[in-house]
Amino acid sequence: MKIAHTIADLRTQLAPYRRPAFVATMGNLHDGHIALVNQARPRGDVTVASIFVNRLQFAPHEDFDSYPRTWEADCAKLQAAGCDVLFAPREADLYPEPQTYKVHPPAELADILEGHFRPGFFTGVSTVVMKLFSCVFAGKPEGLAMFGKKDYQQLMIVRRMVRQFALPIEIVPGETLRAADGLALSSRNGYLSAQERSEAVHLSMALKALGQAVQAQGLPQREALEAAAMQALAARGWKPDYLTVRRRADLLPPENADTSLVVLGAARLGPTRLIDNLEI
Ligand code: PAF
Repeated sequence: MKIAHTIADLRTQLAPYRRPAFVATMGNLHDGHIALVNQARPRGDVTVASIFVNRLQFAPHEDFDSYPRTWEADCAKLQAAGCDVLFAPREADLYPEPQTYKVHPPAELADILEGHFRPGFFTGVSTVVMKLFSCVFAGKPEGLAMFGKKDYQQLMIVRRMVRQFALPIEIVPGETLRAADGLALSSRNGYLSAQERSEAVHLSMALKALGQAVQAQGLPQREALEAAAMQALAARGWKPDYLTVRRRADLLPPENADTSLVVLGAARLGPTRLIDNLEI
């Protein structure tokens, strides 16, 4: 595996190829990331991963400084997964001057759910993803990027960004990988104490129960059932931001019963904020 720290070096490494298959990460890789690399590999003629902890998507009070950086282990995992090129820019390489040009996704998609609780988050994500895409795909006739469904809203926002800017990049969703007890794999799971780790599965259990309850009792009961689900989680010691049933197509509240739905949730367990979702 070749490692490129600069955009120029990355472009030199990718020059012989016409269809990069790309996985963007912030490092601290787990099996979910490696599954994305494995699914990317057969779809392109070169497999590229990036590791870059993107300051733009962290609010000042969030965990940018303490975000786990596990360079050696990450390199070993990517190498073993058959990744061809790892792009690991330093901050000064990706943002050599203040990034004053930004991608602002539309408020109706970016200011709800995660964006409501993390203002500016999706501007930070969209801006870095656009920039990473420009580094990896500029001059290529085609390419693809894998994004995990665990970050459901992020996947949707990136997909629409690619469509609206007519980028020749296919966005391929990857299923969420779960631990044996059902907890969605996440870099932030590493923050959990042993006790919190055994409690953590209750987020996905709450989403499942909420989805079943809405399906059984109908959409008119949706808001009451969401409030009850949040109360039940709070009673276990969580601080829920939202547990909600939305339309898969646009993440807005559903109005009629024949719409495809997804249950999404975010909640704090101790100092750790976890998110998860379940298509129903
Ligand atoms: O999902 C992530 O890890 C990040 O949001 C991403 C897509 C790598 C952008 O920094």
